Amino acid sequence: MSFLTKEELTELKNQVNIADLISQYVSLVKSGKNYLGLCPFHGEKTPSFNVNAEKGFYHCFGCGKSGDAIDFIKDYKQVGFVDAVKDVADFAGITLNIENNGVEEKDNPNALLYDINNQAARLYHIVLTSTEIGEQARLYLEKRGITSEIIKQFNIGLAPDENDFIFENLAGKFDETVQANSGLFNFSSNKVFDAFQNRIMFPLKNEYGHVVGFSGRKWQEGDTSKAKYINTSATSIFDKSYELYNLDKAKPTISKTREVYLMEGFMDVIAAHKAGIFNVVATMGTALTDKHVKRLRKIAKNYVLIYDGDNAGQNAIYKAIDLIGESKTQIVRVPEGLDPDDYSKKYSLEALANLMENGRIQPTEFLIDYLKPENLSNLQNQLDFIEQMAPVIARVPSITAQDAFIRKLVEILPDFEYNQVEQSVNLKRENVLKSRAETGNFEESFGNFDEEQFSNYPDPGFISGEHEYYESFPLHQQEVIAPVRPQPNLSRSERAEEQLLNRMIYHQNVLQKFADDETFRFVHQRYQNLFEKIILEAMSFDEIDPSHFGTSLDAEEKNLFYQILSLDLPEETSSQELEDLVVVFAKEMEQIKFSELQKQLENAQKLGNKKRELELTIQIINQKKKI
Ligand code: UTP
Ligand code: MN
Repeated sequence: MSFLTKEELTELKNQVNIADLISQYVSLVKSGKNYLGLCPFHGEKTPSFNVNAEKGFYHCFGCGKSGDAIDFIKDYKQVGFVDAVKDVADFAGITLNIENNGVEEKDNPNALLYDINNQAARLYHIVLTSTEIGEQARLYLEKRGITSEIIKQFNIGLAPDENDFIFENLAGKFDETVQANSGLFNFSSNKVFDAFQNRIMFPLKNEYGHVVGFSGRKWQEGDTSKAKYINTSATSIFDKSYELYNLDKAKPTISKTREVYLMEGFMDVIAAHKAGIFNVVATMGTALTDKHVKRLRKIAKNYVLIYDGDNAGQNAIYKAIDLIGESKTQIVRVPEGLDPDDYSKKYSLEALANLMENGRIQPTEFLIDYLKPENLSNLQNQLDFIEQMAPVIARVPSITAQDAFIRKLVEILPDFEYNQVEQSVNLKRENVLKSRAETGNFEESFGNFDEEQFSNYPDPGFISGEHEYYESFPLHQQEVIAPVRPQPNLSRSERAEEQLLNRMIYHQNVLQKFADDETFRFVHQRYQNLFEKIILEAMSFDEIDPSHFGTSLDAEEKNLFYQILSLDLPEETSSQELEDLVVVFAKEMEQIKFSELQKQLENAQKLGNKKRELELTIQIINQKKKI
């Protein structure tokens, strides 16, 4: 089966951050330029499993297992190469260009549902972009700043003002069960209608880029239908409390930055995209759910909420903070009650980007503003407000920040002084500490505990069942402590040789220097072989890229290569260091020559070859001087 070329594979591997990929399964801690964790391939208590994100590989100093992203999935999930490649591509948010020659797709019971929705998206897109009927809609979109480029990128379409356009064009190709389950049709009294008529169509894709449903916006002045947007109703491939708009495109950037922006609307996501911010998703006409958060947790650490500036938006932020957890959330408030899209229109795309990047506030600040009662002259209102804010402030990791928030409260409250508010916070602080002790979370840093345990937000409907997830969440596994590097039993020379090879791999000029020196060689053949292969690789590529180079090595060489790559050396090298290294194994080289000559001498003596004996004796005396 023709699959992917070597170049395509290299490119795929380069698109994933291997540390992010692996931290789905193994808890990793940054250590020097590498990440370190407990090896998943052999039982160990001290971490010797190294992940090098920059070079895209892992290596365990304990058991010697090593490889790249695909190797990891193969080994960890015990799957074949093809499945591992797909898994890695999925993680990177890349749809592989593999022909549907039947094998994979037929296995998936939903394949035909994806297919019919994909085909519908294509038809809607053609109607919008290439027909006369589409012209008015194109104008409408243009006025809203949706260029033909964006229409293409987001595969936007138009459902014409007909009640059976999709039915006429697609129903014949799919059997009735597929039609009925596709979400594309409404069935009423023995008649079938298109579910979407006369609407601008936004295809909703799952994270792998399959169209799973649509949202259709009304767009004509005279359209009296009630809903601004109509969404595909729930199907076996579309669950709006799980799917997130734009996740397919946003995923690689989220994985890389570990940060995701959450927005309310499609148009907002598109505006952010136009402003050059790609790690953006939107819920689809529902509030954020724990299902959304749970799936995002696998790739994101930080969440930035940028909801509409109206009341509904602010209420949604309040609930979302509770769901995600205060320590992982930041908020961007869009001024003047605008939504992000409108804001970019009123000001500029740059202004939106600037707001998103630099206009963030902490949840506590948001909550002070959000929970502040309207009538503050009422003493009871003030007390209630303190009661609500005290636990929130008590959970803020930094004491200085707590102090600042207390001051802020005091500024607002006419009848309370610093000491009084502080006392309430202190009381809550004790509760926080107590529950941490009870749940065994005591050692965790303040910012890292599960806020949910202490949430006193009203309506915390998600608490039950959530902990199960937390336990399986890798970053919450027991933290690894000091890095321990069980060095394999290497001689002094071997260690020097490995160190030199490491320098060659990371520093092109070092490689060049030794490649140019024709008398240079490594003492041990395995290093010499690797050295020669590295020179070859460097002749065609500027940099030694392990995900490419690795494929030209056999298993043993690959292991050795990764082990050398993983050595934790200071970044800087010097010519002194290189000379010292060479001296170490040059000596060993002479020693080896010396032993060889001695062996030859013994042989000559056995054979009674007097002439040779004399020759060798002289050589040995000379060699001895070199050691
Ligand atoms: P908004 O009303 O804020 O719409 O709803 P919007 O994103 O600003 O869209 P434009 O600018 O008016 O075109 C936010 C999101 O809520 C969902 C949609 O996903 C929308 O993007 N929604 C809204 C619905 O599902 N149905 C509706 O009737 C309205
Ligand atoms: Mn809008």
